[in-house]
Amino acid sequence: MSSRSSMVLKRNLLSTSKQVSRSFATSGKTCSIFTNNSKRTTKIQPKKIVLQSNLFGSLAISIGALGIGLYCLDARSAVQEYVFCPLLRLATSAEDGHKLGIKFLKYGLAPRLFSDHDDEILQVDVFGKKLKNPVGMAAGFDKEGEAIDPVLDLGFSYIEIGSITPEPQPGNPKPRFFRLPQDDAVINRYGFNSSGHLSVLSTLRVRFERLLSANPNATNNSFRDGKLLAINLGKNKTGDEIEDYVKGVQNFGPYADVLVINVSSPNTPGLRNLQSEAKLTNLLKTVVLERDNLPGELINPNLKPPVLVKIAPDLTEEEIKSISIAAKAAKIDGIIMSNTTVQRPVKKMITKSDVVRETGGLSGKPLKEISLRGLRTLRKYTKDSDLVLVGCGGISSGKDAIEFAKAGATFVELYTAFAYKGPGLAAKVKDEIVSELKKEGKTWMEIVGSDDK
Ligand SMILES: Cc1cc2nc3c(=O)[nH]c(=O)nc-3n(C[C@H](O)[C@H](O)[C@H](O)COP(=O)(O)O)c2cc1C
Repeated sequence: MSSRSSMVLKRNLLSTSKQVSRSFATSGKTCSIFTNNSKRTTKIQPKKIVLQSNLFGSLAISIGALGIGLYCLDARSAVQEYVFCPLLRLATSAEDGHKLGIKFLKYGLAPRLFSDHDDEILQVDVFGKKLKNPVGMAAGFDKEGEAIDPVLDLGFSYIEIGSITPEPQPGNPKPRFFRLPQDDAVINRYGFNSSGHLSVLSTLRVRFERLLSANPNATNNSFRDGKLLAINLGKNKTGDEIEDYVKGVQNFGPYADVLVINVSSPNTPGLRNLQSEAKLTNLLKTVVLERDNLPGELINPNLKPPVLVKIAPDLTEEEIKSISIAAKAAKIDGIIMSNTTVQRPVKKMITKSDVVRETGGLSGKPLKEISLRGLRTLRKYTKDSDLVLVGCGGISSGKDAIEFAKAGATFVELYTAFAYKGPGLAAKVKDEIVSELKKEGKTWMEIVGSDDK
């Protein structure tokens, strides 16, 4: 290298080092290191600082990532309702989204509740048992009983699996499930797609054996204190109107804390005709007799599951009155109001597309007024009895739940709102119920049927 070029190189190096020291000086962090000429400080300190800042940086990034991870895993976080649920809707058809939701829950991939304490004022006295809270998951979400425990872990006190048909059947051709997001509603015409009694029974048996060894003193088939497992029975499309339900009682009675006779799906031809007084009385009497003949629940041979009937919201007052008469005559334990509706309250709905006219049952927000009206009528004809009324249809908040309770529901169930609002819904509904009850200075049981007064 010539002496001239080595001079140029030194000058460049010098100016670079001055620029670096100036830039550090302006950053206000370490000017002294570079402005004093001590070799020790200039050689060792920068490495230390770089190391320290790298360490702090990585720590901050890790804590941040952990925080974001925990936030995303928290079922209550807003990101579930406003980011993940809409993304799932964008990425999947309604049916695939439903299947994916079940798989996520089943395999422990869904968000979870980090704390779930039920205030005592939420306690429900029903069927001689206690429920920790009045919020249940309605039938149709977990048709095959694959996600019972994950659903209960999300804060629900009751889960109704099914409807289950005796023989496997595919249900109606696809597409058969449609979203109406502007109305927080869906229309479905699944038509009792079911893997059949044997398949669901084997799922329940595996669960029962697994949980029994861990909880030998459990008192409910849900294996949780204050929580109940209900099993909803349907009939095959070409099945027998009575036999199919009788088989359901025989097969599932031992595994159920509650049995539900579903005669109100709009998607099985002729099913809703079973709601006529004569047919219903005959069916329910047979079912109750069969229940009474059961050896007892597996978890407690001294108990036999209460029987509920689930009815449609599209009934006239006369029809509701005759169902009440049938329910009392057959001595069943309760009535669920309601299943999905075949009505389309389009004037109150935002969705204007043709989806509204899809055949099937409408559920979610637009159903609420219809099923609430049905519940009030049902209460009118059952308040002189011990029949437990269960409210269902368009419930998406604590205020909705309270309206149903005041109209006569001992507890409530929901499904469609869960699909729109995400896995934290039960917890949020319960929080809202507690705050409303505290404002009124009442417990849940004190408001049940309080509209009567
Ligand atoms: C996709 C879907 C499938 C359903 N399947 C069943 C069923 O198999 N058996 C039943 O009794 N109800 C079924 N239902 C009705 C619900 O249990 C519930 O009664 C109805 O959706 C009203 O409640 P919601 O507005 O909170 O969804 C289904 C509902 C939906 C949306």
